[in-house]
Amino acid sequence: MLHQLIYVSKMTTPMPDEDIKSIVESGKYNNHKGYLTGCLIYSNECFMEYIEGDIFKLNHLFSKISGDHRHKEILLLGLKEISHRLYNNYTLKKYSDHFNDFPQSVLDEMKPSEYDPFPMSMELAME
Ligand SMILES: Cc1cc2nc3c(=O)[nH]c(=O)nc-3n(C[C@H](O)[C@H](O)[C@H](O)COP(=O)(O)O)c2cc1C
Repeated sequence: MLHQLIYVSKMTTPMPDEDIKSIVESGKYNNHKGYLTGCLIYSNECFMEYIEGDIFKLNHLFSKISGDHRHKEILLLGLKEISHRLYNNYTLKKYSDHFNDFPQSVLDEMKPSEYDPFPMSMELAME
């Protein structure tokens, strides 16, 4: 069963680009193995990640991500069944600097503003 999952979190401490690069590189490798696809955006010391794939693999990954001390206040915004992937060609596409880089297609799907976890970031995300 194909599902999509989206969460937001805050960096535990400000992270240099190399550390984020290493999360993305190993994430790409692992996601490829589990045929998980999606994207990670970071801005203003916050993360937002959108991942899609098999529900059991998503669940397993999210439990690992939830226990990762590099970030905190991890908030699951949504988990739902989908009929097709938005990120078929990306195991973990990285967006940086601006939440408004976050793809509109994902925002439309998940409507994260309804949850408003980090008002400033979400406001930017919806711009
Ligand atoms: C913001 C953030 C996003 C992450 N995204 C992924 C991801 O998409 N895929 C992944 O395998 N690991 C991701 N990780 C790393 C996992 O938390 C975990 O360290 C990784 O899955 C390795 O687990 P393992 O070596 O115990 O199997 C992410 C970590 C952080 C902090």
